[in-house]
Amino acid sequence: MARRLEKMRNSPKKIKIINTAIIGCGNAAAWIDVNNLKNYRHTFSHMTHIQKNPKFRLIACADKSKKNLIQFSKKFKVEKIYTSSDKMLNENNIDFLIVCVPTKFHIQEAKKALNYKKIKLVLCEKPFGFNYFKAKKIIQDYQNKKKVLLINYQRRWSTFYNNIKRQINIKKYGKLTNIIGIVDRALYQHSSHMIDLSIFLAGPSKEIYGNIDKNVPPRIVHGYKDYAANITIIHKNNVKTYIKASSETMSKRWFELDLHFSNGRIRILNDDTICEIYKYKPSKQFKNCTELSLIDRKKNKFEDRMKSLYLDIEEFFFKRKKLNKDNLSNIETLKVIEKVLTKN
Ligand SMILES: NC(=O)c1ccc[n+]([C@@H]2O[C@H](COP(=O)([O-])OP(=O)(O)OC[C@H]3O[C@@H](n4cnc5c(N)ncnc54)[C@H](O)[C@@H]3O)[C@@H](O)[C@H]2O)c1
Repeated sequence: MARRLEKMRNSPKKIKIINTAIIGCGNAAAWIDVNNLKNYRHTFSHMTHIQKNPKFRLIACADKSKKNLIQFSKKFKVEKIYTSSDKMLNENNIDFLIVCVPTKFHIQEAKKALNYKKIKLVLCEKPFGFNYFKAKKIIQDYQNKKKVLLINYQRRWSTFYNNIKRQINIKKYGKLTNIIGIVDRALYQHSSHMIDLSIFLAGPSKEIYGNIDKNVPPRIVHGYKDYAANITIIHKNNVKTYIKASSETMSKRWFELDLHFSNGRIRILNDDTICEIYKYKPSKQFKNCTELSLIDRKKNKFEDRMKSLYLDIEEFFFKRKKLNKDNLSNIETLKVIEKVLTKN
């Protein structure tokens, strides 16, 4: 009996609602979706999900800009607002923290959560800072404190891409040999999602080559220059990825993949709107040869991958679901970009 009481005392309290807080109340936090949600196939902003799901309660938010803070808190009726994230963390019992500040502040803000025992999970925007080694150190600190850190590369939660990964693993079309990815610029923006996806599908890198595309001007993001580039990754399993992370202008959106297998090919078009499967069939023109032949072309339905991410978070708190903690794989993207940039 005494042992049971002791166990009950030591086991974590069941929570009824996930006390949530946000640092950085800008586009990723809310405004991308608020401004255009009905036209999107996917969602991009955290508040879209916090608002819809009654299991989450946004108890506080922090932003160093008073103007942004007031605009955000009015829209989402947040009572406790702070221009200092330290003050917000000190004064509130937060379970779940979302970090949506500009990239140069990711590490600094994510590090603060380590000092608060009650914070069990931190969801930080991609790419998790600019420095692979600094990111790796924080990830180790999170592991030591038994906290979960997620980096918001949404496609990792997509049913579609998880299905593609399953097909690669079971060698449905033979061995994966190459990935060709085409994405608009710039490296730490849209392109980082393509690099992360190649790591997700083919595993960690062994060799990285690449150079900045000097024919297109860099994007200026939060005051830094973010470049376009051409990248080659040789993965540890010898799969080779080539990524064209470049476009004349940001408005020419492009996110497509071509996966080559020993016995076939998968083409993923227009940000997974269309998926084509090819297999080798006996050739009519070349004797004793086969040729790639289109065997299936599917149109994908709308898929809200951020909703899946938030359902996972909900299950983490209420059903103790184990979440993907492969953060080292997530920050491989930083390693790739750093290598490409230091070569120039
Ligand atoms: N996953 C995605 O698809 C996606 C989409 C857009 C942006 N992002 C990422 O989200 C991050 C933020 O981008 P954004 O477009 O929302 O920027 P933003 O400028 O719209 O918003 C950032 C907010 O953070 C505030 N801020 C800046 N420094 C701060 C600090 N030290 N402490 C507290 N608040 C601070 C700013 O005042 C601003 O309100 C970037 O790292 C970007 O890469 C990811």
